[in-house]
Amino acid sequence: MTSKASARCPHHGRRAEPPHREIPTNHLKDKVVIITGASSGIGAVSAKALAARGAKIVAAARGQEDLDQLVTDIEKTGGTAAARLTDVTDAADMQALADFAIDTYGRIDVLVNNAGLMLFSYWKDLALDDWNRMLDATA
Ligand SMILES: NC(=O)c1ccc[n+]([C@@H]2O[C@H](COP(=O)([O-])OP(=O)(O)OC[C@H]3O[C@@H](n4cnc5c(N)ncnc54)[C@H](OP(=O)(O)O)[C@@H]3O)[C@@H](O)[C@H]2O)c1
Repeated sequence: MTSKASARCPHHGRRAEPPHREIPTNHLKDKVVIITGASSGIGAVSAKALAARGAKIVAAARGQEDLDQLVTDIEKTGGTAAARLTDVTDAADMQALADFAIDTYGRIDVLVNNAGLMLFSYWKDLALDDWNRMLDATA
């Protein structure tokens, strides 16, 4: 019987890498993650999933109630989160969000730039306001 330590690559005869390298599972632990658009949908689900893996969440959106609910849900399951009302189309608001994250958790490791909206209209309607709102939020 061949032990793991002496296993050799069947093609080259060289000593093979250990078959099961340790994959770190705690790489998110204590990482400070800002998530925009965290009040619903993909942002909220991502916030909960990352918090469950040990990340400290800074949740941002314009809806206070939904943000508060998200923080409550994360804290109930033992996670760490703080929320700040933010309009991503406002540069000063984004700076304030970054400052808030640093004041609260000391640094920023990751930005999940998720906020956005999808508005549908016909070309013939030339809905320029909708077009501009979408670009302002997502660009
Ligand atoms: N779901 C899809 O199939 C799909 C497909 C392609 C791309 N996407 C993109 O993925 C992202 C998330 O989608 P979703 O389905 O989870 O959408 P969603 O449920 O509508 O969530 C959008 C989030 O963005 C926030 N938001 C919108 N405008 C904002 C602004 N000006 N400032 C701050 N926050 C703002 C909303 O919160 P408030 O209203 O509280 O601010 C909300 O939390 C979006 O960017 C969307 O365009 C989604």
